Amino acid sequence: AKEDIAALVSDQHGWVDPRIYTDEALYQLELERVFAKSWLLLGHESQIAKAGDFMTNYMGEDPVLVVRQKDASIRVFLNQCRHRGMRLCRADCGNAKSFTCSYHGWAYDTAGTLVNVPYSECFPTLDKKESGPLQARVETYKGLIFANWDTEAPDLATYLGEARFYMDHMFDRTEAGTVAIPGIEKWVIPCNWKFAAEQMCSDMYHAGTTSHISGILAGLPADKGLSDLPPPTEGHQYRALWGGHGAGFYLDDTNLLTATSGEKVVDYWTKGAAAEKAALRFGATAQSRMALLHMAVFPSCGFLAGVNMVRMWHPRGPNEIEVWSFTVVDADASDEIKDEFRRQSMRSFSAGGVFDQDDGENWVEVQQILKGYKARSRPFVVSMGIGRDEGSHPDYPGRIGYVYNENAARGFYTHWARMMTSPNWAALNQTRPGSVNKLDSNGIH
Ligand code: FES
Ligand code: FE
Repeated sequence: AKEDIAALVSDQHGWVDPRIYTDEALYQLELERVFAKSWLLLGHESQIAKAGDFMTNYMGEDPVLVVRQKDASIRVFLNQCRHRGMRLCRADCGNAKSFTCSYHGWAYDTAGTLVNVPYSECFPTLDKKESGPLQARVETYKGLIFANWDTEAPDLATYLGEARFYMDHMFDRTEAGTVAIPGIEKWVIPCNWKFAAEQMCSDMYHAGTTSHISGILAGLPADKGLSDLPPPTEGHQYRALWGGHGAGFYLDDTNLLTATSGEKVVDYWTKGAAAEKAALRFGATAQSRMALLHMAVFPSCGFLAGVNMVRMWHPRGPNEIEVWSFTVVDADASDEIKDEFRRQSMRSFSAGGVFDQDDGENWVEVQQILKGYKARSRPFVVSMGIGRDEGSHPDYPGRIGYVYNENAARGFYTHWARMMTSPNWAALNQTRPGSVNKLDSNGIH
């Protein structure tokens, strides 16, 4: 029931019920009410640059084809044959003139229209025009491709809201935009998708303490120790006014950025001609002062600016995710800088990256422990910053607090509960706040 789900999360008191990470019935409802109603990231435009270029991806657990059309537009449709449901395309990516199902040979053009049926005279009632796979809405933002199944959802710009300001820090440094470095890394972690998404949304807290000390040490120049690079103390966290997005960033301090990305990247990102150009483009020093920005767009997409990794977390049941990851770089950067971003992001945040290993280890352990009955009996604490770090800021949009904070996590879970208790976007839109911390019409507080 609606009240029961709303009671799993408390924004006001700062806790979440751990059953949200394990319950199979809640998971099925997530697929319907969160993943089938949200704008989901599916990749970068440069990954399908030419007509006929395609890549396969997922929206929740639904497989989709993402295809560049002859008119340069992008279509996203269910990667499922309408005949008997076979996976239409089994390649990761490529260039195609059509997609032919390997089961009985039905063929679809790149727009998803059924164009050929073997022995079609034996299907006297079949209307080919009406027999294509389900199409999703598609919109792009600064090179990123998003899709949404729900025709009632707001447009992408409205959905992202002020989160665009923080995305621009990574995706709009130059008029040339960004390009994706070739290849998408994919790996499996046995944990709930919300651990990964919430951490990228809200958790700078863990970055300078135990879980990343080994990765930070490994990234330091040989003549430097931990005491030479103390974790920064100045920075802000962003919580979306409504919508579940979040970000956190240090101000000016590049110590941790050096540990994740190396000195060459830090110089390019913060000091050189490209950085000066970006600062001019941003027009306000607020943008260029942000260092090592982590961020998540609700529900399951994340970025790490300065490392320049882009993440998609595909749920695979309540207890598992597929992580999909790629790296972007300014399109007009030199080949040397592009390659340095590739090397450094592989070293720090990738399937074998030293920082990713630390993060995954935490989530796997928590998920494993939640198999216990008693371990699921009491709420987890998400109260950091309550009552002191929830204001506004003249330079940064959204609700802004101190960088070490769990306010964005509370925003993430609160929005999750709103979506889970709203049967459609009309109901969801009624929960848009007139004022901060106002009781939601869904009973969430
Ligand atoms: Fe695709 Fe039969 S399932 S042609
Ligand atoms: Fe981390």
